[in-house]
Amino acid sequence: MHVAGLDGETDFDGWRKAARAFRLAGVRPERAGFRIGPGADGLFDESLPPPASGAAAFSVPQSFVGLAQEVILHRSGDRFDLLYRLLWRLGDEPDLMKIVTDPDVADALGRAKNVSRASHKMKAFVRFRQVEDEAGEHWIAWFEPAHRVLEKTAPFFARRFTAMRWSILTPDGAAYWDGQVLALGPPATRDMAPAEDEMEEFWKTYYASTFNPARLKTRAMQGEMPRRYWKNLPEAALIPELVARSEVRTEAMVSAPAPEPNARLAKTLSRMNPDRSFEEGFVPSTLAELDQAVQACRRCPLWRDATQGVCGEGPKKAKLMIVGEQPGDQEDLAGHPFVGPAGRVLDLALDEAGIDRDDVFVTNAVKHFKHEPRGKRRLHKTPSTGEVSACRWWLDAERRLVKPRVIVTLGATAALGVLSRKVAVTRERGRGIDLPDGAKALLTVHPSYLLRIPDAAARAGERSRFVADLKQARSLL
Ligand code: URA
Repeated sequence: MHVAGLDGETDFDGWRKAARAFRLAGVRPERAGFRIGPGADGLFDESLPPPASGAAAFSVPQSFVGLAQEVILHRSGDRFDLLYRLLWRLGDEPDLMKIVTDPDVADALGRAKNVSRASHKMKAFVRFRQVEDEAGEHWIAWFEPAHRVLEKTAPFFARRFTAMRWSILTPDGAAYWDGQVLALGPPATRDMAPAEDEMEEFWKTYYASTFNPARLKTRAMQGEMPRRYWKNLPEAALIPELVARSEVRTEAMVSAPAPEPNARLAKTLSRMNPDRSFEEGFVPSTLAELDQAVQACRRCPLWRDATQGVCGEGPKKAKLMIVGEQPGDQEDLAGHPFVGPAGRVLDLALDEAGIDRDDVFVTNAVKHFKHEPRGKRRLHKTPSTGEVSACRWWLDAERRLVKPRVIVTLGATAALGVLSRKVAVTRERGRGIDLPDGAKALLTVHPSYLLRIPDAAARAGERSRFVADLKQARSLL
C-alpha cells in the first residue's frame, strides 16, 4: 500500500500531485491511499516505484477536474479514493465522465451535488450578529456547514457585503473580510461568536407575524430549511410552537366571520355627501376634515374594495413626514397607517435611528388598500400610476396642512406620489432632493422589501442602509 500525506481536508493541489504520481508509477487504486498530515518521505510514506516504462504524461477532461474540486469538499472519508479510482479508469475509458449511470461517476456527481447544496444553504442560513470592537462595527456569524464549503462560499459574502466588516466562524475554519481582503483562519468554536443581538428580536417578530398557519407544509419547510441548520437560526426557535399552534389558529381563521366593515366608516359615510370631495373649491382645512373627506373619495375605483380610506397620522405640525405606498391588509381593517408587519419593521428602524414615531407624520401615497382576493386572503397589489396621481390630491393636502421640512419616501410608489415622476430609488436614495414647497425629500426603500430578502446577511446589510437613510433624514431636520 502506498499512502500520500495531504496538507488538509480540502488540499486539492496536494491530492492532484499525489494522484498524478501514483498513476505515473502505475499504482493501482486499491494500492493507493491518502491521509491528512505530511508523508514520511515528503509527499509519500514510502518511495513510489519509478514511473512504469512507457508511462507518458496524461491529461484528463476539464469536467473531471471541476468535479474533483467539488467532491474534495465532501465530508466523506473515502472521497480521495473515489477520485483516484476515476482518474485511474480515465486512462482506459477516456469518455467515462459522460457515462452518468456508471456507479463511480454517479457517486461523484451525487457528492458534488451535496456540496453545492451545502454552499447554497450556507448563503441562505448564515446569520450575522453585530458587535462593536476597537475598529467599529463587526458582523460575526457562527455556521456549521454540512460539507467543507467555507472557502468556496466566502467570496460570495465578500461580493455581497463589500462595505461591512464580517467574520464567518465554522468548525472547519474562519473567513474574515475587512472591506478589502478576504482572509482565511483556523477552525473556531461556537462560543467565539456572539449569541444574540438586537436584530434578533426584529427578525423573530417578523417571522412570527408572517407565519401563515393555513399554509403550513412541514415536509416542504424542512426540505428547504433542514433541521441540521435550525440550532443556529434564531427564528427556528419559534418553529415548534408555531407549528403546534397552527391547527388551532387555522381553525379559528376559518371559522371567524368575515370582518365587519369598519364602524367608523359606516358612521362617516352616513353623515357625508359622497360627492363632497368634488364640490367646487372644496379644500380640507384640517386633518380631521381631510380624513372624513377621504372616506367619500371616488377619484379612482380603489374605494370599492377597501374597508375604508386610511389617512396619515401624527403631529399636525410634524417636521418629518414618512410616506409609504398604501395601507396593507391590517391597516385597511384598523384604519391606521403602518400597524402591520411593515409597520413593526419601520418602528424598530426609527427607534434605532433615534427618531420617535410619535414625532413623525406617517402616511401613504394611496389611501385605499388595493388587493385581490386569493382564497381567504387579500393579496396586496401595487397601485397604478393613475391611482397614485388621483390620490396625490390627498397627499398634497396633507403636505399643505402639516408642512414637514423633510419627507422620507418608502419605495418607488411613495417616491412617485411625492415627486410626481417615476424614480429608480436605488439611484436617487439617500440624498436630499429639493421640493417646490421648500421641503426636502429623501428616498429610501420600503420596509416590506427588507422583509422579503431571503438571505439573512443581505437583509442585515440592507436594513443597516435603511436605518442610515433614516438617520440622514433626522440630520436634515
Ligand atoms: N405598507 C405601506 O406602504 N403602508 C402602510 O400603511 C402599511 C404597509
